[in-house]
Amino acid sequence: MLDAEAHRQDIQRSLDAERSAAERNRMGQFATPEPLALEIARYARRLREGRREPVVFLDPAIGTGSFYSALRRVFPDREIADARGVEQDPRFVDAARSLWSQAGLRLIPGDFTRLAPDRTYNLILANPPYVRHHHIDGANKARLKTAVARRFGWAISGLAGLYAHFLLLADAWMTPGGLALWLIPSEFMVVNYGAILRAYLTENIKLLHIHRFAPDEIQFGDALVTSAIVAFEKAGPPPDHRVKFTLGGSIANPIQSEEIPLAALRVARKWSGMIGGAVRHGGPLPTLGDFFAIRRGLATGANAFFILERRQAREIGIPEEFLRPILPSSRHLSTAIIEADSDGYPTLEKSLAIVDCELPEPDVRRDHPRLWDYLESGKTMGIHEGYLASRRTPWYAQERRDPAPFLCTYMGRGKSGAGPFRFFWNRSRAIAANVYLMLYPRGSMQAALAARPELYPIVFDQLRSIGGELLAREGRVYGGGLHKLEPSELARLPAVEMGRVIEKALARAVRGEGHPPGSAEAPGPRSRSGPIGPA
Ligand SMILES: C[S@@+](CC[C@H](N)C(=O)[O-])C[C@H]1O[C@@H](n2cnc3c(N)ncnc32)[C@H](O)[C@@H]1O
Repeated sequence: MLDAEAHRQDIQRSLDAERSAAERNRMGQFATPEPLALEIARYARRLREGRREPVVFLDPAIGTGSFYSALRRVFPDREIADARGVEQDPRFVDAARSLWSQAGLRLIPGDFTRLAPDRTYNLILANPPYVRHHHIDGANKARLKTAVARRFGWAISGLAGLYAHFLLLADAWMTPGGLALWLIPSEFMVVNYGAILRAYLTENIKLLHIHRFAPDEIQFGDALVTSAIVAFEKAGPPPDHRVKFTLGGSIANPIQSEEIPLAALRVARKWSGMIGGAVRHGGPLPTLGDFFAIRRGLATGANAFFILERRQAREIGIPEEFLRPILPSSRHLSTAIIEADSDGYPTLEKSLAIVDCELPEPDVRRDHPRLWDYLESGKTMGIHEGYLASRRTPWYAQERRDPAPFLCTYMGRGKSGAGPFRFFWNRSRAIAANVYLMLYPRGSMQAALAARPELYPIVFDQLRSIGGELLAREGRVYGGGLHKLEPSELARLPAVEMGRVIEKALARAVRGEGHPPGSAEAPGPRSRSGPIGPA
Protein backbone atom coordinates (compact mmCIF):
# COMPACT_ATOMS: atom_id res chain seq x y z
CA MET A 1 0.00 0.00 0.00
CA LEU A 2 2.92 2.27 0.66
CA ASP A 3 3.98 1.66 -2.92
CA ALA A 4 0.63 2.97 -4.10
CA GLU A 5 1.16 6.11 -2.00
CA ALA A 6 4.68 6.57 -3.33
CA HIS A 7 3.35 6.19 -6.87
CA ARG A 8 0.61 8.73 -6.12
CA GLN A 9 3.16 11.23 -4.87
CA ASP A 10 5.22 10.81 -8.06
CA ILE A 11 2.16 11.48 -10.19
CA GLN A 12 1.21 14.44 -8.00
CA ARG A 13 4.64 15.96 -8.43
CA SER A 14 4.61 15.62 -12.19
CA LEU A 15 1.09 17.07 -12.49
CA ASP A 16 2.03 19.96 -10.19
CA ALA A 17 5.09 20.65 -12.32
CA GLU A 18 2.86 21.22 -15.36
CA ARG A 19 1.44 24.40 -13.84
CA SER A 20 2.97 27.46 -12.21
CA ALA A 21 2.17 28.27 -8.57
CA ALA A 22 -0.03 31.15 -9.75
CA GLU A 23 -2.08 28.87 -12.03
CA ARG A 24 -2.49 26.31 -9.28
CA ASN A 25 -3.57 29.10 -6.97
CA ARG A 26 -6.27 30.12 -9.45
CA MET A 27 -7.47 26.54 -9.84
CA GLY A 28 -7.26 25.63 -6.17
CA GLN A 29 -4.79 22.82 -6.81
CA PHE A 30 -2.62 22.47 -3.75
CA ALA A 31 -2.51 18.86 -2.65
CA THR A 32 -2.64 17.81 0.97
CA PRO A 33 0.80 16.71 2.17
CA GLU A 34 0.80 13.01 2.95
CA PRO A 35 1.43 13.27 6.71
CA LEU A 36 -1.46 15.70 7.06
CA ALA A 37 -3.85 13.50 5.05
CA LEU A 38 -2.85 10.61 7.28
CA GLU A 39 -3.33 12.67 10.43
CA ILE A 40 -6.83 13.63 9.30
CA ALA A 41 -7.78 10.06 8.35
CA ARG A 42 -6.53 8.80 11.72
CA TYR A 43 -8.50 11.44 13.55
CA ALA A 44 -11.60 10.50 11.54
CA ARG A 45 -11.18 6.92 12.70
CA ARG A 46 -10.97 8.08 16.28
CA LEU A 47 -14.15 10.12 15.89
CA ARG A 48 -15.88 7.07 14.46
CA GLU A 49 -15.04 4.87 17.41
CA GLY A 50 -18.05 2.84 18.50
CA ARG A 51 -19.78 3.11 15.15
CA ARG A 52 -20.67 -0.12 13.48
CA GLU A 53 -21.72 0.95 9.99
CA PRO A 54 -18.89 0.74 7.47
CA VAL A 55 -17.44 3.86 5.87
CA VAL A 56 -19.13 5.32 2.82
CA PHE A 57 -16.45 7.78 1.80
CA LEU A 58 -16.57 10.92 -0.33
CA ASP A 59 -13.85 13.36 -1.34
CA PRO A 60 -15.56 16.12 -3.35
CA ALA A 61 -12.22 17.39 -4.74
CA ILE A 62 -10.16 14.26 -4.96
CA GLY A 63 -7.07 15.36 -6.90
CA THR A 64 -4.76 12.35 -7.02
CA GLY A 65 -6.49 10.95 -3.95
CA SER A 66 -4.29 11.76 -0.97
CA PHE A 67 -7.22 11.27 1.39
CA TYR A 68 -8.31 8.04 -0.20
CA SER A 69 -4.78 6.73 0.03
CA ALA A 70 -4.67 7.69 3.73
CA LEU A 71 -8.13 6.23 4.35
CA ARG A 72 -7.01 2.85 3.01
CA ARG A 73 -4.01 2.83 5.28
CA VAL A 74 -6.02 3.75 8.36
CA PHE A 75 -9.20 1.70 7.92
CA PRO A 76 -9.16 -2.04 7.19
CA ASP A 77 -10.79 -2.92 3.84
CA ARG A 78 -13.79 -4.52 5.51
CA GLU A 79 -14.65 -1.18 7.13
CA ILE A 80 -14.90 0.64 3.78
CA ALA A 81 -18.17 -0.10 2.02
CA ASP A 82 -17.96 2.46 -0.78
CA ALA A 83 -15.72 5.33 -1.84
CA ARG A 84 -16.12 8.05 -4.42
CA GLY A 85 -14.18 11.06 -5.51
CA VAL A 86 -15.32 14.05 -7.54
CA GLU A 87 -12.80 15.89 -9.69
CA GLN A 88 -13.09 18.59 -12.29
CA ASP A 89 -9.64 18.53 -13.88
CA PRO A 90 -9.44 15.66 -16.41
CA ARG A 91 -5.72 15.23 -15.68
CA PHE A 92 -6.50 14.43 -12.05
CA VAL A 93 -9.51 12.29 -12.99
CA ASP A 94 -7.23 10.12 -15.13
CA ALA A 95 -4.55 10.00 -12.45
CA ALA A 96 -6.94 9.08 -9.64
CA ARG A 97 -8.64 6.52 -11.83
CA SER A 98 -5.39 4.82 -12.80
CA LEU A 99 -4.21 4.85 -9.19
CA TRP A 100 -7.32 3.80 -7.32
CA SER A 101 -10.11 2.35 -9.45
CA GLN A 102 -8.75 -1.18 -8.95
CA ALA A 103 -8.68 -0.40 -5.24
CA GLY A 104 -12.37 0.41 -5.05
CA LEU A 105 -12.56 4.17 -5.63
CA ARG A 106 -15.17 5.38 -8.09
CA LEU A 107 -14.54 8.64 -9.88
CA ILE A 108 -17.21 11.20 -10.62
CA PRO A 109 -15.76 13.63 -13.18
CA GLY A 110 -17.19 17.13 -13.10
CA ASP A 111 -17.72 20.28 -11.10
CA PHE A 112 -18.83 19.26 -7.61
CA THR A 113 -20.89 22.42 -7.18
CA ARG A 114 -23.04 21.47 -10.19
CA LEU A 115 -23.72 17.89 -9.20
CA ALA A 116 -26.67 16.42 -7.35
CA PRO A 117 -25.75 13.66 -4.89
CA ASP A 118 -25.97 10.14 -6.29
CA ARG A 119 -26.29 8.80 -2.72
CA THR A 120 -25.29 9.98 0.76
CA TYR A 121 -21.96 9.48 2.48
CA ASN A 122 -21.09 9.00 6.12
CA LEU A 123 -17.50 10.21 5.90
CA ILE A 124 -16.22 13.22 3.98
CA LEU A 125 -12.55 14.09 4.02
CA ALA A 126 -11.88 17.14 1.92
CA ASN A 127 -9.39 19.78 1.01
CA PRO A 128 -11.61 21.82 -1.30
CA PRO A 129 -10.19 24.13 -3.97
CA TYR A 130 -9.19 27.40 -2.39
CA VAL A 131 -10.19 29.54 -5.35
CA ARG A 132 -10.56 33.15 -4.37
CA HIS A 133 -13.75 34.94 -5.30
CA HIS A 134 -12.19 37.14 -7.97
CA HIS A 135 -11.22 34.03 -9.91
CA ILE A 136 -14.88 32.96 -9.98
CA ASP A 137 -16.64 34.63 -12.90
CA GLY A 138 -19.89 36.55 -12.46
CA ALA A 139 -22.19 33.88 -13.93
CA ASN A 140 -20.69 31.17 -11.74
CA LYS A 141 -20.92 33.36 -8.66
CA ALA A 142 -24.60 33.97 -9.35
CA ARG A 143 -25.19 30.23 -9.85
CA LEU A 144 -23.39 29.34 -6.61
CA LYS A 145 -25.26 32.02 -4.70
CA THR A 146 -28.57 30.64 -5.95
CA ALA A 147 -27.57 27.09 -5.03
CA VAL A 148 -26.67 28.12 -1.47
CA ALA A 149 -29.79 30.27 -1.10
CA ARG A 150 -31.96 27.41 -2.34
CA ARG A 151 -30.57 25.00 0.22
CA PHE A 152 -30.23 27.25 3.26
CA GLY A 153 -32.25 30.36 2.48
CA TRP A 154 -29.15 32.50 3.14
CA ALA A 155 -27.39 34.91 0.84
CA ILE A 156 -23.71 34.05 0.65
CA SER A 157 -21.37 37.01 0.20
CA GLY A 158 -19.91 37.55 -3.25
CA LEU A 159 -16.50 37.65 -1.56
CA ALA A 160 -16.65 34.02 -0.42
CA GLY A 161 -14.07 31.69 -1.91
CA LEU A 162 -15.03 28.43 -3.61
CA TYR A 163 -14.18 26.41 -0.50
CA ALA A 164 -17.13 27.96 1.35
CA HIS A 165 -19.53 26.86 -1.39
CA PHE A 166 -18.06 23.37 -1.36
CA LEU A 167 -18.54 22.95 2.35
CA LEU A 168 -22.11 24.25 2.30
CA LEU A 169 -23.21 22.34 -0.79
CA ALA A 170 -21.71 19.09 0.54
CA ASP A 171 -24.40 19.16 3.24
CA ALA A 172 -26.78 17.52 0.77
CA TRP A 173 -24.32 14.64 0.28
CA MET A 174 -24.07 13.70 3.95
CA THR A 175 -25.86 10.85 5.66
CA PRO A 176 -27.52 11.95 8.91
CA GLY A 177 -25.05 11.16 11.66
CA GLY A 178 -22.18 11.19 9.13
CA LEU A 179 -18.86 12.91 9.79
CA ALA A 180 -16.98 15.50 7.78
CA LEU A 181 -13.43 16.76 8.18
CA TRP A 182 -12.61 19.77 6.06
CA LEU A 183 -9.20 21.28 5.60
CA ILE A 184 -9.94 24.91 4.80
CA PRO A 185 -8.32 28.34 5.18
CA SER A 186 -8.79 29.48 8.74
CA GLU A 187 -9.78 32.98 7.66
CA PHE A 188 -13.48 31.96 7.63
CA MET A 189 -13.38 32.42 11.41
CA VAL A 190 -12.83 36.14 11.21
CA VAL A 191 -13.70 37.58 7.80
CA ASN A 192 -17.13 38.99 7.03
CA TYR A 193 -17.81 36.57 4.24
CA GLY A 194 -17.17 33.69 6.64
CA ALA A 195 -20.39 34.60 8.49
CA ILE A 196 -22.42 32.09 6.51
CA LEU A 197 -20.00 29.27 7.35
CA ARG A 198 -20.03 30.26 10.99
CA ALA A 199 -23.84 30.21 10.89
CA TYR A 200 -23.89 26.77 9.24
CA LEU A 201 -21.41 25.36 11.71
CA THR A 202 -23.34 26.60 14.71
CA GLU A 203 -26.94 26.18 13.54
CA ASN A 204 -27.12 23.28 11.12
CA ILE A 205 -24.70 20.63 12.30
CA LYS A 206 -22.88 19.50 15.42
CA LEU A 207 -19.51 21.17 15.32
CA LEU A 208 -16.98 18.96 17.08
CA HIS A 209 -13.56 20.45 16.69
CA ILE A 210 -11.66 23.24 14.95
CA HIS A 211 -7.94 22.80 14.85
CA ARG A 212 -5.79 25.64 13.60
CA PHE A 213 -2.21 25.24 12.60
CA ALA A 214 0.09 27.86 14.01
CA PRO A 215 1.14 30.35 11.33
CA ASP A 216 4.69 29.08 11.30
CA GLU A 217 3.62 25.49 10.76
CA ILE A 218 3.37 25.44 7.05
CA GLN A 219 0.88 22.99 5.64
CA PHE A 220 1.04 24.15 2.06
CA GLY A 221 4.48 25.51 1.48
CA ASP A 222 3.42 26.87 -1.84
CA ALA A 223 -0.12 28.05 -1.16
CA LEU A 224 0.83 30.23 1.80
CA VAL A 225 -2.49 29.88 3.46
CA THR A 226 -3.04 29.19 7.15
CA SER A 227 -5.26 26.19 7.41
CA ALA A 228 -7.76 24.79 9.83
CA ILE A 229 -9.33 21.37 10.12
CA VAL A 230 -13.04 21.63 10.79
CA ALA A 231 -14.64 18.43 12.05
CA PHE A 232 -18.40 18.04 12.43
CA GLU A 233 -21.22 15.57 12.51
CA LYS A 234 -24.40 15.95 10.54
CA ALA A 235 -26.67 16.15 13.54
CA GLY A 236 -28.44 18.78 15.58
CA PRO A 237 -26.19 20.03 18.39
CA PRO A 238 -27.28 18.96 21.88
CA PRO A 239 -28.09 21.64 24.46
CA ASP A 240 -24.99 22.97 26.23
CA HIS A 241 -22.80 21.62 23.47
CA ARG A 242 -19.16 22.65 23.64
CA VAL A 243 -16.75 22.81 20.74
CA LYS A 244 -13.11 21.95 20.94
CA PHE A 245 -10.75 24.64 19.65
CA THR A 246 -7.10 23.69 19.38
CA LEU A 247 -3.98 25.36 18.09
CA GLY A 248 -0.59 24.13 16.94
CA GLY A 249 0.92 20.67 16.82
CA SER A 250 -1.45 18.11 15.33
CA ILE A 251 -5.19 17.71 15.62
CA ALA A 252 -4.75 14.66 17.82
CA ASN A 253 -1.97 16.20 19.83
CA PRO A 254 -2.36 19.98 19.84
CA ILE A 255 -0.24 22.47 21.72
CA GLN A 256 -3.18 24.43 23.11
CA SER A 257 -6.72 23.30 23.63
CA GLU A 258 -9.91 24.87 24.91
CA GLU A 259 -13.61 24.07 24.90
CA ILE A 260 -15.95 26.86 23.90
CA PRO A 261 -19.70 26.72 24.50
CA LEU A 262 -21.63 26.64 21.24
CA ALA A 263 -23.83 29.39 22.67
CA ALA A 264 -20.78 31.67 22.82
CA LEU A 265 -19.88 30.90 19.21
CA ARG A 266 -23.39 31.68 18.09
CA VAL A 267 -23.31 35.18 19.50
CA ALA A 268 -19.69 36.00 18.65
CA ARG A 269 -19.62 38.24 15.61
CA LYS A 270 -16.25 36.76 14.68
CA TRP A 271 -14.37 33.86 16.15
CA SER A 272 -11.26 35.89 16.63
CA GLY A 273 -11.05 35.68 20.42
CA MET A 274 -11.07 31.89 20.39
CA ILE A 275 -7.91 29.99 20.79
CA GLY A 276 -6.60 29.45 17.32
CA GLY A 277 -8.34 32.59 16.11
CA ALA A 278 -6.58 35.50 14.55
CA VAL A 279 -6.05 37.43 17.73
CA ARG A 280 -3.85 35.15 19.68
CA HIS A 281 -2.21 37.98 21.51
CA GLY A 282 -5.38 39.90 22.07
CA GLY A 283 -4.35 42.67 19.70
CA PRO A 284 -6.57 44.22 17.07
CA LEU A 285 -6.94 42.62 13.65
CA PRO A 286 -4.28 43.71 11.20
CA THR A 287 -5.23 46.25 8.59
CA LEU A 288 -3.67 47.25 5.28
CA GLY A 289 -2.08 50.21 7.01
CA ASP A 290 0.03 47.76 9.05
CA PHE A 291 1.62 46.49 5.86
CA PHE A 292 1.72 49.54 3.61
CA ALA A 293 2.46 53.21 3.96
CA ILE A 294 -0.25 54.57 1.70
CA ARG A 295 0.14 57.96 0.03
CA ARG A 296 -1.64 59.72 -2.74
CA GLY A 297 0.35 60.19 -5.90
CA LEU A 298 1.89 63.58 -6.53
CA ALA A 299 0.05 66.72 -7.51
CA THR A 300 1.90 68.78 -10.11
CA GLY A 301 -0.57 71.68 -10.20
CA ALA A 302 -0.34 71.72 -14.00
CA ASN A 303 -0.28 68.23 -15.49
CA ALA A 304 -0.53 69.44 -19.06
CA PHE A 305 2.71 71.37 -18.63
CA PHE A 306 4.75 69.03 -16.42
CA ILE A 307 3.66 65.67 -17.85
CA LEU A 308 4.62 65.03 -21.45
CA GLU A 309 4.90 62.15 -23.79
CA ARG A 310 8.43 60.90 -23.43
CA ARG A 311 8.96 61.21 -27.17
CA GLN A 312 7.83 64.84 -27.07
CA ALA A 313 10.05 65.62 -24.07
CA ARG A 314 13.02 64.26 -25.97
CA GLU A 315 12.15 66.33 -29.05
CA ILE A 316 12.06 69.44 -26.89
CA GLY A 317 15.50 68.45 -25.64
CA ILE A 318 14.78 68.05 -21.93
CA PRO A 319 17.70 66.01 -20.55
CA GLU A 320 16.85 62.46 -19.41
CA GLU A 321 18.08 63.22 -15.91
CA PHE A 322 15.15 65.64 -15.44
CA LEU A 323 12.55 63.19 -16.69
CA ARG A 324 10.95 60.42 -14.70
CA PRO A 325 8.44 57.87 -15.92
CA ILE A 326 4.91 58.49 -14.70
CA LEU A 327 1.76 56.46 -15.24
CA PRO A 328 -1.12 57.65 -17.36
CA SER A 329 -4.60 57.60 -15.84
CA SER A 330 -6.00 54.14 -15.21
CA ARG A 331 -8.31 54.29 -18.24
CA HIS A 332 -5.19 53.91 -20.35
CA LEU A 333 -4.06 50.82 -18.46
CA SER A 334 -5.60 47.74 -19.98
CA THR A 335 -3.82 45.23 -17.76
CA ALA A 336 -3.49 45.05 -13.99
CA ILE A 337 0.24 44.31 -14.15
CA ILE A 338 2.39 47.13 -15.44
CA GLU A 339 5.49 45.74 -17.08
CA ALA A 340 8.63 47.75 -17.74
CA ASP A 341 11.00 48.19 -20.67
CA SER A 342 14.75 48.08 -20.19
CA ASP A 343 14.69 51.73 -19.07
CA GLY A 344 12.14 51.06 -16.38
CA TYR A 345 9.45 52.95 -18.32
CA PRO A 346 6.09 51.17 -18.46
CA THR A 347 5.57 49.22 -21.67
CA LEU A 348 2.59 51.22 -22.83
CA GLU A 349 1.70 52.64 -26.20
CA LYS A 350 2.23 56.15 -24.89
CA SER A 351 5.09 56.50 -22.42
CA LEU A 352 4.74 59.54 -20.21
CA ALA A 353 7.46 61.46 -18.41
CA ILE A 354 7.22 64.10 -15.71
CA VAL A 355 9.59 67.06 -15.77
CA ASP A 356 11.31 67.12 -12.42
CA CYS A 357 14.32 69.27 -11.66
CA GLU A 358 15.56 70.65 -8.36
CA LEU A 359 18.36 72.82 -9.71
CA PRO A 360 18.00 76.54 -9.04
CA GLU A 361 17.04 78.71 -12.00
CA PRO A 362 20.51 80.19 -12.65
CA ASP A 363 22.00 76.69 -12.92
CA VAL A 364 19.33 75.55 -15.33
CA ARG A 365 19.79 78.67 -17.41
CA ARG A 366 23.54 78.16 -17.56
CA ASP A 367 23.78 74.36 -17.99
CA HIS A 368 20.53 73.23 -19.59
CA PRO A 369 19.34 75.80 -22.10
CA ARG A 370 16.65 73.61 -23.73
CA LEU A 371 15.07 72.85 -20.36
CA TRP A 372 15.37 76.55 -19.52
CA ASP A 373 13.49 77.49 -22.67
CA TYR A 374 10.73 75.03 -21.81
CA LEU A 375 10.39 76.39 -18.28
CA GLU A 376 10.35 79.93 -19.60
CA SER A 377 7.52 78.97 -21.94
CA GLY A 378 5.65 77.81 -18.81
CA LYS A 379 6.20 81.19 -17.21
CA THR A 380 4.58 82.95 -20.15
CA MET A 381 1.48 80.82 -19.40
CA GLY A 382 1.63 81.74 -15.69
CA ILE A 383 2.35 78.16 -14.60
CA HIS A 384 4.85 79.38 -12.00
CA GLU A 385 2.14 81.44 -10.33
CA GLY A 386 -0.23 78.52 -9.87
CA TYR A 387 -1.35 77.50 -6.37
CA LEU A 388 1.13 74.65 -5.99
CA ALA A 389 3.98 75.93 -8.19
CA SER A 390 4.13 79.27 -6.38
CA ARG A 391 4.66 77.43 -3.08
CA ARG A 392 7.55 75.31 -4.31
CA THR A 393 11.22 76.21 -4.58
CA PRO A 394 12.12 76.21 -7.38
CA TRP A 395 8.59 76.41 -8.77
CA TYR A 396 9.19 73.46 -11.16
CA ALA A 397 10.47 70.95 -8.53
CA GLN A 398 8.05 68.11 -7.87
CA GLU A 399 7.04 66.45 -4.61
CA ARG A 400 9.25 63.50 -3.69
CA ARG A 401 7.74 60.14 -4.60
CA ASP A 402 9.43 56.81 -5.14
CA PRO A 403 7.83 54.26 -7.38
CA ALA A 404 5.44 52.00 -5.46
CA PRO A 405 4.99 48.32 -6.32
CA PHE A 406 1.25 48.44 -5.76
CA LEU A 407 -1.27 51.09 -6.67
CA CYS A 408 -4.96 51.61 -6.26
CA THR A 409 -7.07 54.09 -8.16
CA TYR A 410 -8.10 57.06 -6.03
CA MET A 411 -11.53 57.42 -7.53
CA GLY A 412 -13.86 55.67 -9.88
CA ARG A 413 -17.39 54.85 -10.80
CA GLY A 414 -18.71 51.37 -10.06
CA LYS A 415 -19.31 49.67 -13.36
CA SER A 416 -21.50 46.61 -13.46
CA GLY A 417 -19.65 43.73 -11.85
CA ALA A 418 -16.34 45.50 -11.21
CA GLY A 419 -16.04 47.77 -8.22
CA PRO A 420 -15.12 51.42 -8.55
CA PHE A 421 -11.46 50.88 -7.63
CA ARG A 422 -8.70 48.99 -9.38
CA PHE A 423 -5.40 47.68 -8.06
CA PHE A 424 -2.23 47.57 -10.12
CA TRP A 425 1.05 45.78 -9.67
CA ASN A 426 3.67 48.20 -10.89
CA ARG A 427 6.82 46.47 -12.05
CA SER A 428 8.12 49.64 -13.68
CA ARG A 429 9.95 52.65 -12.32
CA ALA A 430 6.97 54.89 -12.95
CA ILE A 431 5.64 57.09 -10.21
CA ALA A 432 2.02 58.13 -10.18
CA ALA A 433 -0.04 61.29 -10.05
CA ASN A 434 -2.74 61.95 -7.48
CA VAL A 435 -5.33 59.90 -9.36
CA TYR A 436 -3.69 56.93 -7.67
CA LEU A 437 -2.96 55.78 -4.13
CA MET A 438 0.56 54.42 -3.82
CA LEU A 439 1.16 51.45 -1.52
CA TYR A 440 4.69 51.24 -0.11
CA PRO A 441 5.45 47.99 1.73
CA ARG A 442 6.54 48.62 5.28
CA GLY A 443 7.54 46.66 8.36
CA SER A 444 6.93 42.93 8.08
CA MET A 445 5.61 43.28 4.53
CA GLN A 446 8.78 45.00 3.39
CA ALA A 447 10.90 42.32 5.07
CA ALA A 448 8.83 39.46 3.67
CA LEU A 449 8.92 40.79 0.09
CA ALA A 450 12.65 41.33 0.32
CA ALA A 451 13.24 37.81 1.66
CA ARG A 452 10.75 36.05 -0.59
CA PRO A 453 10.14 38.00 -3.79
CA GLU A 454 7.80 35.32 -5.11
CA LEU A 455 5.29 36.81 -2.67
CA TYR A 456 4.65 39.79 -4.97
CA PRO A 457 1.98 38.00 -7.05
CA ILE A 458 0.43 36.53 -3.92
CA VAL A 459 0.26 39.87 -2.14
CA PHE A 460 -1.16 41.40 -5.31
CA ASP A 461 -3.79 38.67 -5.39
CA GLN A 462 -4.65 39.47 -1.79
CA LEU A 463 -5.08 43.12 -2.61
CA ARG A 464 -7.31 42.35 -5.55
CA SER A 465 -9.36 40.00 -3.43
CA ILE A 466 -10.43 42.86 -1.16
CA GLY A 467 -13.40 43.32 -3.43
CA GLY A 468 -15.12 46.40 -4.73
CA GLU A 469 -17.96 46.21 -2.24
CA LEU A 470 -15.68 46.55 0.75
CA LEU A 471 -13.58 49.29 -0.82
CA ALA A 472 -16.65 51.21 -1.85
CA ARG A 473 -18.09 50.90 1.64
CA GLU A 474 -14.92 52.25 3.20
CA GLY A 475 -14.61 55.14 0.76
CA ARG A 476 -17.02 57.99 0.05
CA VAL A 477 -19.60 58.40 -2.67
CA TYR A 478 -20.17 61.70 -4.38
CA GLY A 479 -23.02 62.87 -6.59
CA GLY A 480 -23.33 60.90 -9.81
CA GLY A 481 -21.91 57.74 -8.21
CA LEU A 482 -18.30 58.86 -8.05
CA HIS A 483 -16.42 56.96 -5.36
CA LYS A 484 -13.29 58.25 -3.66
CA LEU A 485 -10.94 56.43 -1.35
CA GLU A 486 -8.50 58.38 0.82
CA PRO A 487 -5.22 56.78 1.93
CA SER A 488 -6.47 56.54 5.53
CA GLU A 489 -9.64 54.79 4.36
CA LEU A 490 -7.70 52.19 2.39
CA ALA A 491 -5.34 51.75 5.35
CA ARG A 492 -8.27 50.86 7.63
CA LEU A 493 -9.34 47.80 5.64
CA PRO A 494 -8.83 44.47 7.42
CA ALA A 495 -5.95 42.37 6.16
CA VAL A 496 -6.17 39.22 8.24
CA GLU A 497 -5.16 36.76 5.56
CA MET A 498 -2.38 39.06 4.39
CA GLY A 499 -1.03 39.05 7.93
CA ARG A 500 -0.90 35.29 7.88
CA VAL A 501 0.80 35.14 4.52
CA ILE A 502 3.46 37.48 5.77
CA GLU A 503 3.92 35.73 9.09
CA LYS A 504 4.44 32.43 7.31
CA ALA A 505 6.79 33.89 4.74
CA LEU A 506 8.91 35.42 7.44
CA ALA A 507 8.94 32.20 9.43
CA ARG A 508 10.21 30.39 6.35
CA ALA A 509 12.79 33.04 5.64
CA VAL A 510 14.04 32.86 9.22
CA ARG A 511 14.41 29.12 8.83
CA GLY A 512 16.42 29.83 5.70
CA GLU A 513 14.07 28.04 3.34
CA GLY A 514 14.20 28.97 -0.29
CA HIS A 515 11.47 29.85 -2.73
CA PRO A 516 8.74 27.31 -3.17
CA PRO A 517 8.71 25.22 -6.33
CA GLY A 518 6.68 26.62 -9.19
CA SER A 519 7.33 30.21 -8.31
CA ALA A 520 9.39 30.83 -11.38
CA GLU A 521 7.62 33.96 -12.52
CA ALA A 522 9.81 36.98 -12.08
CA PRO A 523 8.56 38.89 -9.07
CA GLY A 524 8.62 42.45 -8.02
CA PRO A 525 9.12 45.59 -9.98
CA ARG A 526 11.85 45.57 -12.58
CA SER A 527 13.56 48.68 -11.50
CA ARG A 528 16.96 49.84 -12.57
CA SER A 529 17.48 52.04 -9.62
CA GLY A 530 14.15 52.09 -7.83
CA PRO A 531 14.11 50.96 -4.22
CA ILE A 532 11.12 48.70 -4.56
CA GLY A 533 12.23 45.27 -5.50
CA PRO A 534 14.65 42.87 -7.04
CA ALA A 535 15.90 43.21 -10.58
C1 LIG B 1 -6.93 21.54 -2.94
S1 LIG B 1 -6.93 20.28 -4.14
C2 LIG B 1 -7.08 18.85 -3.14
C3 LIG B 1 -6.80 17.57 -3.84
C4 LIG B 1 -6.76 16.34 -2.95
N1 LIG B 1 -8.05 16.02 -2.34
C5 LIG B 1 -5.74 16.51 -1.86
O1 LIG B 1 -6.16 16.72 -0.74
O2 LIG B 1 -4.55 16.46 -2.13
C6 LIG B 1 -8.51 20.52 -4.83
C7 LIG B 1 -8.85 19.70 -6.05
O3 LIG B 1 -10.16 20.07 -6.49
C8 LIG B 1 -10.20 20.13 -7.89
N2 LIG B 1 -11.29 21.05 -8.23
C9 LIG B 1 -11.23 22.38 -8.43
N3 LIG B 1 -12.45 22.86 -8.69
C10 LIG B 1 -13.29 21.81 -8.64
C11 LIG B 1 -14.70 21.67 -8.81
N4 LIG B 1 -15.44 22.73 -9.07
N5 LIG B 1 -15.24 20.45 -8.70
C12 LIG B 1 -14.48 19.36 -8.42
N6 LIG B 1 -13.15 19.43 -8.26
C13 LIG B 1 -12.57 20.64 -8.36
C14 LIG B 1 -8.83 20.59 -8.29
O4 LIG B 1 -8.54 20.22 -9.62
C15 LIG B 1 -7.96 19.89 -7.25
O5 LIG B 1 -7.56 18.64 -7.74
